[in-house]
Amino acid sequence: MIVRGALRVPGDKSLSHRALLFASIASGRSRLRGLLDSADVRSTAGALRACGVAVPELAGEVEVEGLGLKGWRRPTRPLDCGNSGTTTRLTAGIVAGHPISATFTGDASLSRRPMRRLQAPLEALGATVILTDGEHLPMTVKGGPLRATAWRTDVASAQVKSAVLLAGLCAGVDVSVEEPSPSRDHTERMLAALGAAIIVSGPRVSLRATARLAPLDVTIPGDPSSAAFFAALAAAAGGGEVLLRDTCLNPTRTGFFTTLQRMGAAVELLERREEGGEPVGTVRVTPGALRGRTVQGDVIPTMIDELPLLACLGALASGDTVIRDAGELRGKESDRIAAVVANLRALGADAEELPDGLRVTGSPRGEDLRNGPVATQGDHRIAMAFGVLAAATGRTLAIDDPGCVAVSYPAFWRDLAAVSA
Ligand code: S3P
Repeated sequence: MIVRGALRVPGDKSLSHRALLFASIASGRSRLRGLLDSADVRSTAGALRACGVAVPELAGEVEVEGLGLKGWRRPTRPLDCGNSGTTTRLTAGIVAGHPISATFTGDASLSRRPMRRLQAPLEALGATVILTDGEHLPMTVKGGPLRATAWRTDVASAQVKSAVLLAGLCAGVDVSVEEPSPSRDHTERMLAALGAAIIVSGPRVSLRATARLAPLDVTIPGDPSSAAFFAALAAAAGGGEVLLRDTCLNPTRTGFFTTLQRMGAAVELLERREEGGEPVGTVRVTPGALRGRTVQGDVIPTMIDELPLLACLGALASGDTVIRDAGELRGKESDRIAAVVANLRALGADAEELPDGLRVTGSPRGEDLRNGPVATQGDHRIAMAFGVLAAATGRTLAIDDPGCVAVSYPAFWRDLAAVSA
């Protein structure tokens, strides 16, 4: 298969959630361009509307009039977060910093995901968090006056880190968060760009009480987690190249690109600039003879959402691809370790689960794979990873729920067909 294409993938999902949330608590009118219009980001927009923020449709330039750090109103109905963990956890942080309460609900997948990790820090700050079965949604958060808190997490989670920072910010108290290894730092960069007193020293982020946030005027760059699917396809192709324009190249997000290079693909940076506090650029990926690699330790948070894709690529590489230190994958939109291994095995691949990751022994170009079914469990990243596997090998994979990509990349199948045509 030959690839050819120059793509500008849709706006970064993490940045789109944050841009809307930060605009809602800024003082003045924000202007947001290039927001991802997907089901997850619509969940954030819906939660904001329920809290009194006027958010128009997510098309073109979106203007949001901020209510200030203490302006959210108590929602009169539960906040339906759909499939979105980021909506749930970041919104919960803002509610905790207001003298209001809100109940959070979600779909079946979100209702299985771990929330106690949010309860512990928000309660240390002084909020009340009531969880179903001590762990799950529906969850009720009661905010109020909070106290200055230094929190240490035992998992690297940008969502938990952001929730603590947002709670402290809205409540007007000093907070700090220390993580075992650095997770994505979009919240820190955006807060700094809007004038908050934030200090990052190694794994510790401290935010001093801040009176107001300036409004945003940003263009959201392309999502590296979406670009990764085309980068993987190009890496595994028989020839050609893919150009990925305007891609966010924040170093806390680029672990997949560096891993592709380690596996033998050519990944080049053609141009790089700063936009709204984030590095952005064009990446060119050309095929290589792929060899399996081990990924573990600090690189894992920098490619956490790309690990299902890496496992699929491992099935096309010679030797073993091993993922360790990634137990977090079991608490995503599905248990991604179990889902990826079961699907790979159903296609004839040699794959096994590990407690904190997986192993795949590949065959060059996937020659040992056969046609077969893919059970996505409604998880967008499983659907897209196996879509790339199908395109790269020419196998027919019957993906049970292709529409689940609407969570992060509604036009994925169209773009995949264009690049692999
Ligand atoms: C996200 C953080 C990550 C990531 C998720 C988006 C964010 O989750 O998997 O897709 O925008 O902060 P964790 O914070 O649970 O690691």
